[in-house]
Amino acid sequence: LTPQRLAGRRILITAGPTREAVDPVRFISNRSSGRMGFAIAAAAQRMGAQVTLVHGPCGIPPPRGVLPVAVESAEQMLAAVQVAWPQSDAAIMSAAVSDYRPLQVAPQKLKKEAQGGQQIQWSLTENPDILAYAGANKQPGQWLVGFAAETEKLLQHGTEKRRRKGCDLLVVNDVSRQDIGFDATHNEVMVLGPGEDAVESWARCRKDEIAQQLMERLAACMETA
Ligand code: PMT
Repeated sequence: LTPQRLAGRRILITAGPTREAVDPVRFISNRSSGRMGFAIAAAAQRMGAQVTLVHGPCGIPPPRGVLPVAVESAEQMLAAVQVAWPQSDAAIMSAAVSDYRPLQVAPQKLKKEAQGGQQIQWSLTENPDILAYAGANKQPGQWLVGFAAETEKLLQHGTEKRRRKGCDLLVVNDVSRQDIGFDATHNEVMVLGPGEDAVESWARCRKDEIAQQLMERLAACMETA
């Protein structure tokens, strides 16, 4: 039986993709399945935490015993996080949030015929950065864990991202690989922090094993604080 190392802790987790509407039937999104974040939510719940799972459209059922909050867009995810973060002891943000959204959402379905065979151009505007919001609004005693989806220079980009977004721990994965990361059953990660130069490399294994290891790591950080 997993020891209840997170008993009494309130933990916020974000998972899955966001969907940014183009028109009533189309959206911009990404390949996140939600598996990584759902596995983290399940591990935290098993360890006794009270878990709020804010998730985009994933198509898999949330783990039993967690409070699921279903959202679609990055703006909706930010609104849910703004409610939950001030009441949380820790947050793990594994969602693949769309960096941009269409500047305007067409009220009716876009018609191909209306383009007259011409190229179509969409203007995109930047979405809010939810992890950076949490980092900027972190209170003493709160722990913040971010993820980084990188395709090159993992350590360098991860180190910069951890500093920029104000997280205690940052989990970096190589999303250029098919056997880990997006929509895979397994992952292989580098965990940066909490110290400035602290780096651990975890071998490729199932996402539920990574999740368990990560929650043990977070519990140890919280116990020593
Ligand atoms: O869902 P799965 O199929 O299991 O795949 C898991 C995963 C690959 C999605 C996951 O392991 C992962 O890497 N999640 C982070 C994806 C991501 O958006 O990374 P990023 O490097 O673009 O963003 C860095 C961090 O900022 C992330 O914690 C992200 O949640 C956050 N972010 C990014 C943009 C934004 N506008 N707001 C954010 O909060």
